[in-house]
This record gives sequence, C-alpha cells and structure tokens, in this order.
Amino acid sequence: MTVRALWYDRHTLHLIDQRRLPAHLIVRHLRTVQGTAEAIRTMVVRGAPAIGVAAAYGMALASRQRGMTPTRAAVLLRATRPTAYDLFVGIEVVRNAWTRGDDPEAAALAYCARVVGECRKIGEAGAPLFRQANKVLTHCNAGALATVEWGTALAPIRVARDRGVRLFVWVDETRPLLQGSRLTAWELDQERIPHAVIADNAAGYYLHNGDVDAVIVGADRVARNGDFANKIGTYEKAVLAHENGVPFYVAAPWSTFDVGRKDGTTIPVEERAEAEVLDLGTQRIAPKRSHARNPAFDITPAKYVTGFVTPVGVMRPAELTRFLLRHRARLAAPARP
Ligand code: MRU
Repeated sequence: MTVRALWYDRHTLHLIDQRRLPAHLIVRHLRTVQGTAEAIRTMVVRGAPAIGVAAAYGMALASRQRGMTPTRAAVLLRATRPTAYDLFVGIEVVRNAWTRGDDPEAAALAYCARVVGECRKIGEAGAPLFRQANKVLTHCNAGALATVEWGTALAPIRVARDRGVRLFVWVDETRPLLQGSRLTAWELDQERIPHAVIADNAAGYYLHNGDVDAVIVGADRVARNGDFANKIGTYEKAVLAHENGVPFYVAAPWSTFDVGRKDGTTIPVEERAEAEVLDLGTQRIAPKRSHARNPAFDITPAKYVTGFVTPVGVMRPAELTRFLLRHRARLAAPARP
C-alpha cells in the first residue's frame, strides 16, 4: 500500500487524521484556511514537510475565501507551530504566487510535487548507506505521513528494500505523542518491513550492545552550520550514537534548511501542552497536582551528524555549509519567521 498523508482536489484539502492512527484511518476534508491552521496546530497533520505542504494548500484555500488576503492567511498559518521551517516556506511560496497574480492552487500543487520529488531523491541518495541485514534506529515519524509520500528518514529504507536489501528497523516509541509506535510502526507494517518498537529509554541499551548499525532521523529545521531541530529525544540518540561509534544520519528536503540561520542556538523550540505528558490518551497518569514541561523538539549540534541525506546526495556538515552558501540564492526561502 502506498501511504499518502494528504491530497488536494476540487478545492478541498484531504488529510489523514494522524491523531487517530493506527486504530482508525479517518480522512478530514477542509475548505478553509482557518480549518487548515487548526489541523496543523492540533497535529491532525504533522511532520515538517507535510506541515509545509498543508500550509501551502491552506493558502490556496484562502485565495478562494471572500475577504481573505495573502497577509491575513499567512498570519493565521504562521501562528500554528514555530519550529518546522517548512511551514514558513510553504506559506511563502504560495503567498508570493498569489501576490504576483499567479494561480495559488497551481503554486501549492507544484510545491507539493517538489517536496515529494525531493523525498524520492533522498531515498535514492540514502539507500546505499545501508548494507544487507543492517539494523537501523529511527526516532519519531519521518515517513510518508510526515512528508506526503516516501518520507525523509524512511525513504532510504524504502528504496533499499525495493533494491533487495533486507533491513530491520528499531522504532523509538517517541513520547509523549508516540509518533514512533503509532505512525512509523504503522507505515513499516503496511509495507511489511521488519521492525520492533522500543521504549525511548531502550535505545542506549541497543546502541551499546552493538545492535544498531546506523541511526537515521528527519529534521524540523537545519541551520546552515548543520545544527538541527528534531523531535525531543533526538539529541540524546545522537550523543549515544557518537559514543558508541554508530553513524548518525539526518535526512531532509530543501524546505527544511534555514539557510539564513547561522547555527542552532536561536531555533525556536515549540513547547506544547502539559496534558500531553501528564495524560496517556484520556487517562491521567501523573498525580493530579503534578505539573509537566513539554518541549516538542531539541537541538542537536552538527558535530554529532555523520551525514545529511539531501536530494543531491549525502554530505558531512562542513560540506553542507559550503553547499548551502554556494546555492543560498536559490535555496533561501523568502520566509523570515
Ligand atoms: O511534532 P511532530 O510530530 O510534527 O514532529 C515531527 C518530527 O520531529 C519529525 O522527525 C520531523 O518533522 C521530520 S519529518 C520528515
């Protein structure tokens, strides 16, 4: 089965409701930018590239709403989630088209096709990193659900499998919203890719025991020096991989690269509701009077990254910086969140 997180037709954005997976496969149908913003904020759709594409379609929907302007629509969408750079890129691509008088729907469709194409190329570039029977660890969900199709971290795994390389995937469950056990495991199961879900705090055990040959994750924002934001818990996996001599890869399309940002120190980190930590589903699991903190992302320094898997190949952090500076004019999104 080919997973597709979202699609657009007849002036409607269709989104798989990722909060309900794997128990229920429910599709939401949206016709307004307000509805799209709410879907991004509440994580009906999530994962940086998919958020960007949903926002692009949200702008397209706004262009058909009476009284809506490019600026008003952009303000609504920008206020949803602060960390994923793709959100701001998706908004700006369509806002620019709309302001120029071009067709916003055509611009959003083209943006979506671009992201999907880049993810496919990430798969091709990253597949040779894996050898027969490798065990690969991933964190959160950086699959088709997070990117529309293919995925970022999961794309090389899919392409390697299509080329006959048998891989086994360790899936961090990814507290507090369980994107690993609910979404990554669901995608791998759909495609019959062997995997096991592990508690987040078990990753070190397997890394230390020699049971992990490589780690691959996605990213929500990559600064020009290679520092990057990704789901909370990524930083500790990177440090543990380094400590145990295991290569650590970060896969992302160009919409995730914040070329104008020198390093990771100023990347905005979203803090989400306490209830996501204190409750499990509808069940309270902590004492009534306890409080929680809930940073949704952490920043991993570039020194822990073995290679960035990009649409044009795998690059070490220093090479990435040179590449980004050389292609800055083409890559730099007109966004400045
Ligand atoms: O809070 P989420 O589920 O939107 O976080 C998603 C992640 O952290 C992913 O790893 C990242 O967006 C990369 S998706 C290809």
